[in-house]
Amino acid sequence: MTNSPVPTTTLKPIRRIAISTGGGDAPGLNAVIRAVVLAALQRGWECFGIREGFNGILRPDRFPVDGVFKISKDQVRGISHLGGTMLGTTNHGNPMRFVMKNADGSEYEVDRTDDIIQHLRQMQIDALICVGGDGTLTIAHALHQRGLAQGLRVIGVPKTIDNDLDKTYTTFGFDTAVAFATDCIDRLHSTAESHRRIMVVEVMGRYAGWIALHAGMASSAHAILIPEIPYDIAQVAKKIHARTKAGRHYSIVVVAEGARAKDGQRVLEEQAQLGGVERLGGIGEQLARQLEALTGKEARAVVLGHLLRGGSPTSFDRLSALRFGAAAVRALDQGFSGIMISLAFPNVEYVNLDEVAGRMKAVPLDGDTLQTGRDIGICFGD
Ligand code: F6P
Repeated sequence: MTNSPVPTTTLKPIRRIAISTGGGDAPGLNAVIRAVVLAALQRGWECFGIREGFNGILRPDRFPVDGVFKISKDQVRGISHLGGTMLGTTNHGNPMRFVMKNADGSEYEVDRTDDIIQHLRQMQIDALICVGGDGTLTIAHALHQRGLAQGLRVIGVPKTIDNDLDKTYTTFGFDTAVAFATDCIDRLHSTAESHRRIMVVEVMGRYAGWIALHAGMASSAHAILIPEIPYDIAQVAKKIHARTKAGRHYSIVVVAEGARAKDGQRVLEEQAQLGGVERLGGIGEQLARQLEALTGKEARAVVLGHLLRGGSPTSFDRLSALRFGAAAVRALDQGFSGIMISLAFPNVEYVNLDEVAGRMKAVPLDGDTLQTGRDIGICFGD
């Protein structure tokens, strides 16, 4: 059950806030920053940007001068339509598992959240807005828990192209990624048909299949393989054989990077290093080779990868991002801390960060989108 967030009443009025963007970049981050800065300035507050996640504080070697800097109105002019983040970001250097070196060169992890709180309080910053995915929101939750007693409030803003964050209908960046992937897959239909080939398209999404499912369905893919449904390659080959028999000599297979065979493992480009996470990738090529062997048809793999994180946000993502940013400032003004802004269609709402941190939103197997796919004959590999 969801508990309604309650505002904190004992804190002094806000004069200065800071904003940080963490994790992989996603279209819409700059729109959030713009909304936060403008909404803060309107209230007579100052707004500071922390560079590259929390590296602006924790890595003076990288940012010796302006790791935390005051953002002016001029600096956020005309940035809503730009991809990336004007603050920079990182998906390494988690402050809760910060990697340090011993004298002998060996590495160990330390929790540096207190360093962040102290640094911000020394700058008389009263509140922090953390924009990011599951990792960043877990950090935001820890900063709220430890920082509130020291006068630091924390609000989370959900971001990820993967759409795998719990307690929000969607995250900004997802719509842009799906629109771009759909366009790419549309274009692959003609090559696949002209050459009578199987085209396997690998998309991002980590351990969730949202991008693969939505883009695959929107672009009329014939098979869609997602982490939530471990697949049987024989079923995919069967679908391709059935299409050939019906005179359709080509097929499009969309696969999420985190998908795996019923009897197999996720395909990794790299194992997790100390303080980091595993890097997924390579399943598209593996599937293409297997399907070629099983069907006798030529197969090619295309990896959309980081292309899905770039470009200008769609109008839906821009608007969501602006709404999330402004709502984060409103929440602070209302005395909240330890909450995340969420889209509870059609409105934005607040949810407690402890209900979000460390949780993942997978594609529901009983959802109507998946059911629609089954109804129109898409193979999900099961
Ligand atoms: O979480 C966003 C995401 O794009 C995932 O879909 C993907 O697995 C990961 O980031 C890739 O991150 P990196 O930028 O480290 O390659």
